[in-house]
Amino acid sequence: MGKPRVFVTREVFPEALKLLEQYYEVELWDRFQPPPYEVLLREAKRSDALYTLLSDKVDCMLLEESQPRLRIVAQMAVGYDNIDVECATRLGVYVTNTPGVLTEATAELTWALILAAARRIVEADHYVRWGEWWRTRTGWHPMMLLGMELQDKTLGVLGMGRIGARVAEIGKAFGMNIIYHNRRRRPEAEERLGARWVTLEELLRESDVLTIHVPLTPETKHMIGEKELRMMKPTAILVNVARGAVVDTEALVKALREGWIAAAALDVFEEEPLPENHPLTAFKNVVLAPHIGSATRETRLKMSMMAAENLAAFARGEVPLNLVNPEVVKVRPPGFHQD
Ligand code: NAP
Ligand code: GLV
Repeated sequence: MGKPRVFVTREVFPEALKLLEQYYEVELWDRFQPPPYEVLLREAKRSDALYTLLSDKVDCMLLEESQPRLRIVAQMAVGYDNIDVECATRLGVYVTNTPGVLTEATAELTWALILAAARRIVEADHYVRWGEWWRTRTGWHPMMLLGMELQDKTLGVLGMGRIGARVAEIGKAFGMNIIYHNRRRRPEAEERLGARWVTLEELLRESDVLTIHVPLTPETKHMIGEKELRMMKPTAILVNVARGAVVDTEALVKALREGWIAAAALDVFEEEPLPENHPLTAFKNVVLAPHIGSATRETRLKMSMMAAENLAAFARGEVPLNLVNPEVVKVRPPGFHQD
């Protein structure tokens, strides 16, 4: 048997491709746009392995139609809600992700958004850039572009995992009180950060800044809808750097229009890319980013390498380090030669 074939769905760091080439015949989709579903399906059927991004839909039909050849899907992201993991496990397909290496970059981006929303940085930039400051001859005005101070305010973390905990840690340095909601309590975070576990309702009612870091699952889809947004303080800022669908977009637009909350800062959307002229783009008190949580050179290199290393380990017949479906090992051993 020659080398197994891997389909890489987008340009990644050359270092990662070099590693892959030691083990695989590499087929690279090098366009800027993602491969259409039909292309992904066609390539998956001809491949032993897929190197995917979060925008690639790896559903059960694709996994089933790619049998018996496809053995592993290595995702270059920590979130893997685009992959039908249950179906993959049943079929004996290994699924891996890239946890941890993007925690710092994503927490930093979260803070960039919190600060931008709290201190109205985008509005302020537009005010200067488009000449309004000059035209109005305002100069320094005591009441101009007032924002919210963070010290002594309450930071509510929905999903105190790797990223949520790092965001909380930085919040502590700003002098904020930390509350959080998870399904399970995290005594270590409580001790280290003085964080207090609260119910979801308490989190919504008490947070001055509510920051979302839960994965997208059937349980978290639209976890923040109209009922939840109505519970928030009218002065609160909602931040979503997790997945768009954790928040009901229609309800959020209504909340912003009717002033149930003060501002939102969003890196993720139910539909990506966010359509041009989407209602969210009309609000001055909304800060928008195009899903760039992990987008630093350092982190993207680490993510590229981690996904490639997971594929390399599998090709050597080893269980990859970042396996998200460990039960798959009982269905099929790792590697390409056994059956
Ligand atoms: P993680 O360490 O697994 O943390 C997720 C946390 O969410 C866990 O503490 C978990 O605690 C909690 N959680 C899960 N389901 C919940 C539920 N139903 N109710 C309440 N809490 C729940 O993951 P991470 O590495 O921090 O990443 C979190 C997510 O961020 C990823 O899944 C991804 O979608 C997103 N992300 C986005 C970007 C970006 O570019 N914007 C970058 C990286 C990651 P319990 O299990 O105890 O509930
Ligand atoms: C990015 O959104 C990730 O899940 O890594």
